[in-house]
Amino acid sequence: MEILQAKNLTKVYGKGENKVVAVNDVDLSVTKGEFLAIVGSSGSGKSTLMHMLGGVDRPTRGKVFVEDQDIYGLDQDKLAIFRRRQIGLVYQFYNLIPVLNVRENMVLPCELDGKEPDWDYVEELAATLKLDRRMNHLPNELSGGQQQRVAIGRALMNRPAILLADEPTGNLDSKAGEEIVELLRYSNRRYKQTIVMITHDLEIAKQADRVITLEDGSIRGDVQSLQGARREEPDHAPQNAQPLQGAKREAQEGGRP
Ligand SMILES: Nc1ncnc2c1ncn2[C@@H]1O[C@H](COP(=O)(O)OP(=O)(O)OP(=O)(O)O)[C@@H](O)[C@H]1O
Ligand SMILES: [Mg+2]
Repeated sequence: MEILQAKNLTKVYGKGENKVVAVNDVDLSVTKGEFLAIVGSSGSGKSTLMHMLGGVDRPTRGKVFVEDQDIYGLDQDKLAIFRRRQIGLVYQFYNLIPVLNVRENMVLPCELDGKEPDWDYVEELAATLKLDRRMNHLPNELSGGQQQRVAIGRALMNRPAILLADEPTGNLDSKAGEEIVELLRYSNRRYKQTIVMITHDLEIAKQADRVITLEDGSIRGDVQSLQGARREEPDHAPQNAQPLQGAKREAQEGGRP
């Protein structure tokens, strides 16, 4: 089942000689439970694409469907509610509220929705994220990796249709970064959480099921990661699976044949 679909998605910034086509006529389908990585050089349009997929930034042209809902057909208020309930966002710099402790940061999406948090789920997430002994701490009392784990907990709190992560390991050393990706992978399997993750690190991207490469706002590569595919079919990789190097090669060669 397709949970996310983008059709002819385009974002143009500025006018005249300042005009930048950040995302150029992108079509993309993501199935429920897929873990998709987006790679591409700086300025290739990754964040712009992700923001449009998440209902954060209105496209200049094109449409985004989440669970068959045309999200930019919603009015502003409904779109805000949709974002809060259906999209989990994780950024490079955590974006935690400094005066709220870990527990309060994690349950914030429920509070904003006027909903009582599912405290069993909070406990479960806290244990999974290895935050159970930090729940009363403030963000500035935590390591970078711990702060990012809080941000992931907050993003998962409303059991969103899609978790979007923009360079979630970008501010962490490699060990803490690997832990974060392992947690994303775990939530992907445990909760069948659909994930779209931007990274510039090909080792990190390998953890995903599928890797798309953006170049100048267009998709230049779209490959199944061998590692991700193997997890699904332990005995043999699917026939259409190409090793991740394919993504790199396609990016270098400037597109698929
Ligand atoms: N608000 C904006 N106004 C004008 N141009 C913008 C704006 N946001 C992004 N751009 C331009 O759109 C292009 C794509 O930017 P985007 O942030 O999506 O790239 P990115 O792939 O995420 O890069 P990075 O890896 O550096 O984060 C860039 O050329 C950028 O300068
Ligand atoms: Mg970016």
